Amino acid sequence: MKNIKVGIIGGTNGMGRWFAGLLKNEGCTVYVCGRKTELGINDLARLCNVVVVAVPISATTDIIKQVGPLLTKDALLMDLTSLKHEPVKLMLANSKAEVIGCHPLFGPALKDVSKQNVVLCPARGKKWLPWLKNVFKKNKLTVLEATPEKHDKMMAIVQALNHLNTISLGMALARTNITLAEINKFSTPIFRTKLDIIKKVFTESPELYIDIITKNTETIKMLDIYEKALKDIRAKIKSGNKNKSKEAVANAAKKLYGSKNK
Ligand SMILES: NC(=O)c1ccc[n+]([C@@H]2O[C@H](COP(=O)([O-])OP(=O)(O)OC[C@H]3O[C@@H](n4cnc5c(N)ncnc54)[C@H](OP(=O)(O)O)[C@@H]3O)[C@@H](O)[C@H]2O)c1
Repeated sequence: MKNIKVGIIGGTNGMGRWFAGLLKNEGCTVYVCGRKTELGINDLARLCNVVVVAVPISATTDIIKQVGPLLTKDALLMDLTSLKHEPVKLMLANSKAEVIGCHPLFGPALKDVSKQNVVLCPARGKKWLPWLKNVFKKNKLTVLEATPEKHDKMMAIVQALNHLNTISLGMALARTNITLAEINKFSTPIFRTKLDIIKKVFTESPELYIDIITKNTETIKMLDIYEKALKDIRAKIKSGNKNKSKEAVANAAKKLYGSKNK
């Protein structure tokens, strides 16, 4: 495909800026806009045959509703949102354009993205999908196609449960009332790795993590599982019977890694 003009709403920062760089390297003409840029959403819709929504999750609905109706059916409307059900539904409802939901499973600071995963949720049209897949594959990314529902279900595990675990560990550490400086004096390598993750979640973009957790409809299910697991191991430890704890860990290991713990 030649003369591809891409407009990225939210392309001045974060994932949008990362995607702009990738597409420029592929020879696309890329226009970006944010809230303070000279170019606005109407300009991007007029100038481009591909429009990408890459704004914070809380602004995504409004932006899709604004830009969707401005695009023709030959254009592609896509997004980079960390959740897929709601944005894909809104893109389909608010535009005649081809629609592909897209979620790169890494952050914009990652230097080498080769072998990282990108999930695509093709929702309308066939013209643009081969082009988009090819862009990612040329850049050594692993492309996986899934429905928005399957994507969000898996993100409830990979993101919501995972970040809930980090947040609860950070909150528990804060409740010990022992300073991090003091804790650090006694730290192990694995604990320092965990502290780095806690710092990232609590200080870099807490809003993104909270949105990822609170807006996923499967989060409560994950919280129930998490609470049950914690209650279960607590009861076994409290019982004073070491074998019960050992057995609980062995049973989980068997489920996760098979009977030989491979
Ligand atoms: N960060 C990640 O690790 C990551 C990974 C995968 C997917 N995502 C997804 O990528 C999307 C963007 O997240 P991000 O972390 O890249 O956010 P970000 O770093 O905060 O960047 C957001 C961008 O959107 C612009 N923006 C904010 N509100 C806007 C509005 N109302 N109208 C137009 N532009 C607006 C910002 O520019 P101005 O501030 O100048 O307006 C900026 O360019 C989210 O949907 C997120 O779920 C993020």
